[in-house]
Amino acid sequence: MPSVTINGVEKTVPEGTGIGSLLAGTGIMGMPCGGHGRCGKCRVKVTGKVSSLCDREKAFLSGEEIRQGIRLACLVRAEGDCWVETGGEKAAGIRLEGDMPDIVLNPSFTSYGAAVDIGTTTLAARLYDREGKVAAQASCMNPQSGWGADVISRMEAAMGGAAEDIARAVRQSVDGLLEELADSGGISYRKIDGVVVTGNTAMLHLFTGTSVEPLTHAPFAVKRSFDEKVNAACLGLTKVSPEAEVYFPPCAGAFVGADLVTALLASGIRNKKGAWILVDIGTNGEMALLHGGRFFFCSTAAGPVFEGAGISRGMAGRPGAIDRVELRGGKTEVHVIGNIPPRGICGSGVVDAVACLLEGGYIDETGYMEKEEVLIAPDVPFTQKDVRMVQLAKSAIHAGIRTLLHIAGIGCGDVSGLLIAGGFGSFLNVENAGRMGLLPEELTSGVRVIGNAALSGAAMLLLNPAYRRDCRDYASRGEVVELSCHPFFAREYMDRMSF
Ligand code: FES
Repeated sequence: MPSVTINGVEKTVPEGTGIGSLLAGTGIMGMPCGGHGRCGKCRVKVTGKVSSLCDREKAFLSGEEIRQGIRLACLVRAEGDCWVETGGEKAAGIRLEGDMPDIVLNPSFTSYGAAVDIGTTTLAARLYDREGKVAAQASCMNPQSGWGADVISRMEAAMGGAAEDIARAVRQSVDGLLEELADSGGISYRKIDGVVVTGNTAMLHLFTGTSVEPLTHAPFAVKRSFDEKVNAACLGLTKVSPEAEVYFPPCAGAFVGADLVTALLASGIRNKKGAWILVDIGTNGEMALLHGGRFFFCSTAAGPVFEGAGISRGMAGRPGAIDRVELRGGKTEVHVIGNIPPRGICGSGVVDAVACLLEGGYIDETGYMEKEEVLIAPDVPFTQKDVRMVQLAKSAIHAGIRTLLHIAGIGCGDVSGLLIAGGFGSFLNVENAGRMGLLPEELTSGVRVIGNAALSGAAMLLLNPAYRRDCRDYASRGEVVELSCHPFFAREYMDRMSF
């Protein structure tokens, strides 16, 4: 049987084993199109005996890449001993910090507690001591990206028989984070005896091995809305005290998850006067509007464009990602995370790039580009297809905000502030986001970036379980607006497609 060595780790596998299947679920790298050979993103460097280059790979790889031995992991198979190098997908540049109001301490754990946010793209965690001090922080990529970049592909994969593998992959990653937290905090992981895990509804279903079937079709019923404690050992978590319990905060609906609920808790929105909006521009674009004591929620299928997937040279905010673009003298100038040559462009860079291309006249107001692509930096083109993908995503978010305002019977002028939560929002150039239409321009002056609020809210629940009451209140009292069948949203969505 051939031996396959991935990043120095050797494994014996049956001949013909797909390299992508060996990477799926490891967290080493994502398979944005679910390993179907459609996105060209699973580039790896391969040497040794492998299947010959297929036509689909030729369509994605340049001559230079082919000479260097670059292949698409999901399309290459081991036919003998081979060696595979990935780009290294350890999460970096993930915003772990988040605003948190002053709280009354009454920890739900006796030694140390961990708060975990299972994001669609990344996982983030913090370790707390009983004084409420952060003892360590850690993050990694969500290994479920091996089953697709978006929630829908993963739910399809789970229903197609991969549910157990998906659950195991993410549990192992959470275990890895808990161990990393303990190591960095200088404690034994056995001292972690309380955990709060937040995430969107699908993520919590997949993590707990709950069937996602009801979430995949109308009426999008939620059979398990959480607000429950589960023994960590029953979830297969091993890097905690054997007695540790995991608390999952409540979800408000199939597409409005516990992550939005905990972000609301951390935002302190409840005590604010006037109308406030909270938007988490992640893969799902969840948002909430508070007005007159009422909460309105929605979730837009914005897709993973702003998480760096779905566009030709998109990548997560890791070293090598262009995270800022400026137009100087008609030419683009970029900032690259890690100050190394650019490998691609992440969400905040995408927003800047589109704003610059508009300003420079490379894109017209319909999104049409005269040239098929414009080079943002050497080897990092922004294509006509990329612009179309951005248009779909930004109009979904923008139209979602306007629909919530419409339902509440108010306009942008009535809004006191717009809070932006989530990793991507932390690096967002708000002015550019208004210029390219991701956010209503009238609201950009009131924007406040609050960081990883979902994780901060989970931490609040860890540090004082009394806040569970607030979460229950948000989840049960909030009115979830179903956008897919809302005529106002449909109209706005089309209107906001243009720049
Ligand atoms: S082409 Fe391999 S994951 Fe998309």
